Amino acid sequence: MSIPEVYKKWFLKLLLGPGDTMTFRKYRDEPLDPEGVDNLYIHVPYCRNKCPYCPYFKELYNEQQAGFFGDSLLREIELHTGWLKGKEIQSLYVGGGTPTLLNSHLIPAIDRLRQLCTLHNVAIETTPTEINNRVTGELAVMGCNLISLGVQDFNPKYLDFLGRKYTVSDVYRAIDKLEQLNFHNFNIDLIFAMPGQTMKELDQTLQIAIDTGAHQLTLYPLFTFPYSVIGKSQELSHVVMPDGKTRKQMYYHIMDTLTAKGYKQVSVWSFLKGNALKYSSVTRDKYLGLGPSAGTYTGKQFLFNTFNIKEYLAMTMRGQIPGSYIMDVSPRLERLFWIYWRLYETGISLNAYRMRFGSDFMDDYGKWVRLILRLGYACRTDDHIMLTKKGIHRIHLMQNHFALEYINRIWTACTMETPPEEISLSALH
Ligand SMILES: C[S@@+](CC[C@H](N)C(=O)[O-])C[C@H]1O[C@@H](n2cnc3c(N)ncnc32)[C@H](O)[C@@H]1O
Ligand code: SF4
Repeated sequence: MSIPEVYKKWFLKLLLGPGDTMTFRKYRDEPLDPEGVDNLYIHVPYCRNKCPYCPYFKELYNEQQAGFFGDSLLREIELHTGWLKGKEIQSLYVGGGTPTLLNSHLIPAIDRLRQLCTLHNVAIETTPTEINNRVTGELAVMGCNLISLGVQDFNPKYLDFLGRKYTVSDVYRAIDKLEQLNFHNFNIDLIFAMPGQTMKELDQTLQIAIDTGAHQLTLYPLFTFPYSVIGKSQELSHVVMPDGKTRKQMYYHIMDTLTAKGYKQVSVWSFLKGNALKYSSVTRDKYLGLGPSAGTYTGKQFLFNTFNIKEYLAMTMRGQIPGSYIMDVSPRLERLFWIYWRLYETGISLNAYRMRFGSDFMDDYGKWVRLILRLGYACRTDDHIMLTKKGIHRIHLMQNHFALEYINRIWTACTMETPPEEISLSALH
């Protein structure tokens, strides 16, 4: 049995109990149950150019379309005023796409949210070519206190391979400007394990990234979706990716280098320096997603908004939640999703589990924990089950295998001309 097959069987056995299904059905105006939701996400689906490797939902930027999107976003917020009023929202994450392209439309949306509720943190993604005095002024008006800059590499050869339309000098200019704004977290995204990339080249990029003084470095291996509609649109089918052994060596090198420099690993991909606030794009517990393709997770339901901008505009105009697929989440799956994201953050606090679910983690999952401890994938401290280096690498493989398979399946179905009635995630091939 190949290693991925072992993981699949092990993971599914852990994941699915009797009666649990992981099936998305077409969304038909069902009410959401936002009790306990205290995070927001806005997806801004526009970029100035489409990078060939990028699977995220986006269209080419067009000023008129952007204006329509801004109006629809305000309409979508109005659909949720009932429960947003007076709420404490821990974080608003604005992702994309390239959200800073639409700052002038995001300002009224964030103003409206601030009239309705308290926003404790506002995080946004951007890209080096977008950073100028106007944009940094707008970020200050929006009250963004966390930012992520998609640098991808400091080596012109790989910027070129990734189809990025800027030079290394542009990157330095953007970093200098952002560093003047005193964000609570300034994160830099990099991509590694690219075809032909050597350890020396990876190390050079890593050292430059460390020298920038950014609070956090996030390093993703280049993901490809070769077997999907998305994969075909990625234009990467002709490239030969590094093998698993090289990828593991690179990953261990990143972990060793950054921990030796005093960074703390705060997720499978991210490393944080000092006491800065953590920047995270995916690990919030319950969240409401706004904008095309945005996901919403209430703990009881998982909803994806439509991946069609025209449909998004039309549905919000009619006063409808612009949902496309919804899945009911059983209490067992709710726990497993929570555990999955804590493992993604490299460890589980037993106390946090007790606070969230009212039971003891070891009573609920002791059998699995003891197995993982015996295999050397984790170690136990008083309150924590912490993954070891070997365990983090396993999670990285699982993340790669399952997340890509799930994301691929949902995103492929959502972008089909005739989307299916149901998308089943439990029937893995
Ligand atoms: C949605 S992008 C937002 C940032 C901004 N649009 C940019 O590209 O600079 C978020 C991050 O996802 C990562 N990313 C996108 N596609 C990827 C892929 N195929 N493999 C690995 N990382 C990827 C990149 O590091 C990127 O910075
Ligand atoms: S990587 Fe960023 S800039 Fe490139 S297409 Fe994706 S979202 Fe847009």
